[in-house]
Amino acid sequence: MDVRKVVIPVAGWGTRSLPATKNVPKEILPVFRKPSIQYIVEEAIASGLSDVVFVNTQNKRIIEDHFDHNLALEQLLERKGLTALLNEVRSVARMANIIVVRQKEQLGLGHAVMCAKEVIKDEPFAVMVGDDLMFNRNPGINQLIQVYKNERMPVVGVMEVPRDKVSRYGIIDAEEFAPGLYRIRGVEEKPAVDKAPSRLALVGRYVLTPEIFTHLDTVSADGAGEIQLTDALQALARKNRLLAVKVHGQRFDVGDWVDYLTANIYFALQDENLRYDLIDRLRELIPPAR
Ligand code: G1P
Repeated sequence: MDVRKVVIPVAGWGTRSLPATKNVPKEILPVFRKPSIQYIVEEAIASGLSDVVFVNTQNKRIIEDHFDHNLALEQLLERKGLTALLNEVRSVARMANIIVVRQKEQLGLGHAVMCAKEVIKDEPFAVMVGDDLMFNRNPGINQLIQVYKNERMPVVGVMEVPRDKVSRYGIIDAEEFAPGLYRIRGVEEKPAVDKAPSRLALVGRYVLTPEIFTHLDTVSADGAGEIQLTDALQALARKNRLLAVKVHGQRFDVGDWVDYLTANIYFALQDENLRYDLIDRLRELIPPAR
């Protein structure tokens, strides 16, 4: 069966981005001209996924509204003859089939995935973490779907991270069986760098099968009371049922201010109408060498 559905957990508080996220969901903060969550949904659609399952909470409904029609705005743009903008605004509403499930308590990424169980039923599915934006001609999640199609096994996306960032990620212990393809022996959530089995980090892209729900059911909460997806992945790894693929492309962790700002500049630089003005303005900001 093909992968059609993608689970995107969006109920988190976004504490790393406070105070910007006090009342605005982090997923709605713009990266250049679009809310960051739109890039995630566009990556999913460009990879052939059609059903987007947001795992959301009551005070962040503006996220699903962004992917719905705003008829008053559309009428206004039509009246004013702003056709390009009208088409752009409409295309966001037509982009995907949006399904919303509620995560009534924020109990971790594993718990968020569990909330989508009834919608996923017996199909393979993708999971995409909203903080990780990825850009490549071959979209990030599509690189995993291609592996899944050949191997018919759960796949996680990994990238090599510097030593000082290892303790922020799930890290895999794996054996490379083809270039950029790994059989996972184990996976650990946020290990200390000297205990980490590698520098290959989970980067918020997963293709899973309903088998994961059985494991999530038995995982116990960690010290912070959270059910970690990584712990259920560990159970799959122990059964030799988990692969990893090294994902290629530009990646931005938009929960990190440096990456967030860099992502904005990256996109603005692709816009030929803005590129040179932006470079000039940035040059003006760099203090002169003494
Ligand atoms: C989550 C996962 C972690 C993964 C990371 C990628 O962590 O638990 O394994 O490496 O996403 O962004 P979080 O960033 O939610 O703490």
